[in-house]
Amino acid sequence: MNKAEVQSKIEQLSKELEEHNYNYYVLSQPIISDYEFDMLLKELQQLEQQFPEFATANSPTKRVGGDITKTFPTVLHKYPMLSLSNSYSQEEITDFEKRVHKLIGSDVGYVCELKYDGVAIGIRYKNGELAMAVTRGDGEKGENITANVKTIRSIPLKLKEGDYPEEFEIRGEIFFPLDKFQSLNEEREKAGEPLFANPRNTASGTLKMLDSKVVAGRKLDCYLYGFYSDENQFKDHFESIVKTGKWGFKSPLPEKKMIALCSNIDEVMDFIGYWDNERHNLNFEIDGVVIKVNSYKQQKQLGFTSKFPRWAIAYKFKSEQAVTVLNSISYQVGRTGAITPVANLKPVLLAGTTVKRASLHNADQIAKLDVRIGDTVFVEKGGEIIPKIIEVNLEFRVHSSEPISYVKECPECDTELIRKEGEANHYCPNEVGCPPQIKGKMEHFISRRAMNIDGIGQETIELLYQKGLAKNIGDLYDLTFEKLFDLESFKEKKAQNILNGLEASKQIPFENVLFALGIRYVGETVAKKLAKHFKTIDNLMSASFEELIEAEEIGDKIAESILDYLDKEENRVLIEKLKSVGLQFETRHVEVLHATPLWGLNFVVSGVFSKFSRDELKAEIEKHGGKNVGSISGKTSYIIAGENMGPSKKEKAEKLGVDIIDEDEFIKMIS
Ligand code: IVH
Repeated sequence: MNKAEVQSKIEQLSKELEEHNYNYYVLSQPIISDYEFDMLLKELQQLEQQFPEFATANSPTKRVGGDITKTFPTVLHKYPMLSLSNSYSQEEITDFEKRVHKLIGSDVGYVCELKYDGVAIGIRYKNGELAMAVTRGDGEKGENITANVKTIRSIPLKLKEGDYPEEFEIRGEIFFPLDKFQSLNEEREKAGEPLFANPRNTASGTLKMLDSKVVAGRKLDCYLYGFYSDENQFKDHFESIVKTGKWGFKSPLPEKKMIALCSNIDEVMDFIGYWDNERHNLNFEIDGVVIKVNSYKQQKQLGFTSKFPRWAIAYKFKSEQAVTVLNSISYQVGRTGAITPVANLKPVLLAGTTVKRASLHNADQIAKLDVRIGDTVFVEKGGEIIPKIIEVNLEFRVHSSEPISYVKECPECDTELIRKEGEANHYCPNEVGCPPQIKGKMEHFISRRAMNIDGIGQETIELLYQKGLAKNIGDLYDLTFEKLFDLESFKEKKAQNILNGLEASKQIPFENVLFALGIRYVGETVAKKLAKHFKTIDNLMSASFEELIEAEEIGDKIAESILDYLDKEENRVLIEKLKSVGLQFETRHVEVLHATPLWGLNFVVSGVFSKFSRDELKAEIEKHGGKNVGSISGKTSYIIAGENMGPSKKEKAEKLGVDIIDEDEFIKMIS
């Protein structure tokens, strides 16, 4: 391919990928498989790597993140970003209508929309391309978080064909889809990391992260609900929503009743009633409904108070509550030994599901609520996924009841619990002898994102533990065919599968091994950073506190946790054992090469050079991840030409469109 062909290939791939993105993330109707999508993206990534001059700011490759932001610069909003006044009853909505009628007469149409419980964002487009994304901030100025917003796949980087003005801003709400939020917390639980409390705050925190790659991994989403432009061609709000949807934005759809035209307050109340029920079936949280006067002309006539638009109001849903009785409290022991108190309730129906348990967080929370066994309690499903007890109804308290005395010993192994200063949770310190901790650590070790050991699941771990075949992670590697085959319910194939899985795990990279060890606060990302920084387990094991916090993203808490872990004899023994069976405890050379500038490129070296001998040049190519090939073909990426390159080679290169570079250009590529 010559350069013009490369450029047009890049353009074509970008367009195709953006279209598939739209089909998948906006329409939820993908027409190719994830695998095919990944292949196209990979092709584009490789081309952009080889020809960085053709990589654009809004290429679909930006979706995967990678840009690191040091600070988020403050940006002045072109149109102030206001909030809405809240209402909680039909009466207040009727009052709103009265105010509107008084100011502009009674010929008014309304639009009802969902009130998304997320983070407001203003996104500016210029010539059909995303130019900048700004948070609300104080309403006058916000923060430029463009790189992070570009990773949100339902937000178009380039618009489809359309009659949009040269410059406009679209506003909406970024949120954490509930299924994605749940998986994130499940992963964190496995990694022994503290859980995120609710999707809204997590979305907000995610958008302020400095590494856009992490943001990309969180899979946020966004609905758009406001169009702003000096050249606004629409007559009303409803039209703007429908039209912007056609340009590629994820706009609420009338056919899904996510937006509706209403001609009076009765219709508005119907919309509210419908969503008060239906909201539990959405994969995102809403906390109410927004009612807007539809006509732009009328909006203008109504104007603003000092704080809010007079043409819109929010109706907030009440958090659903139920009354029930606290039967007992149980204490769960996690893989890291953290104790979580759980309230066992008399089953009660709340927001469409039967609630039997509620989270009580920790000892302080129990003391604060002064909740006692037998108490009548109010439970609420608020922003949090697991319902919580919000209050005790003291009227029904049994006089003989006593304050809860929090467990002092581990409910599983009777070891005395400890609570470190400044920490909310109690811990069972018996890491090596407490069954749920041992099994939890093994389950984490074999899990897909850690060692990914085929053939073993939670049930197998339970069985191996019960039968005394695996009392810690290291024991897994002492399993033999005979030992496994002896177990009832184990067929030959299953036993062999497990052994194969264990054998294959010896090739799993160091960063996964580090994550799999289950060190507190060392989740996947931290493990990656540690592996990259320290390269070998020996370096990590001999690092001091100061050396640990020098590594990227490693703070005091993580450093202390690593030192604590490595201080324990049993953990050092475990690492030695895993080393001796052949697990990876060093970053492998091949991975270093992946990150090198010539990765994936094929070179032909021809002629005589002044700065290198031919062998030196070939060695440099390999050192930087490139490959030397003998003859020119369509797969050749570059020819490095010295003096006296043969004319036939030159001719062939030109015919195949292979780029010819000199040694100086090559030096630039590797420097
Ligand atoms: S319109 C001037 N529409 O709720 C009116 N806001 O307290 C601008 N929100 O700041 C807002 N869903 O972050 C509007 N369909 C919707 C909304 C919505 C959620 C948020 C937004 C706003 C806050 C108002």
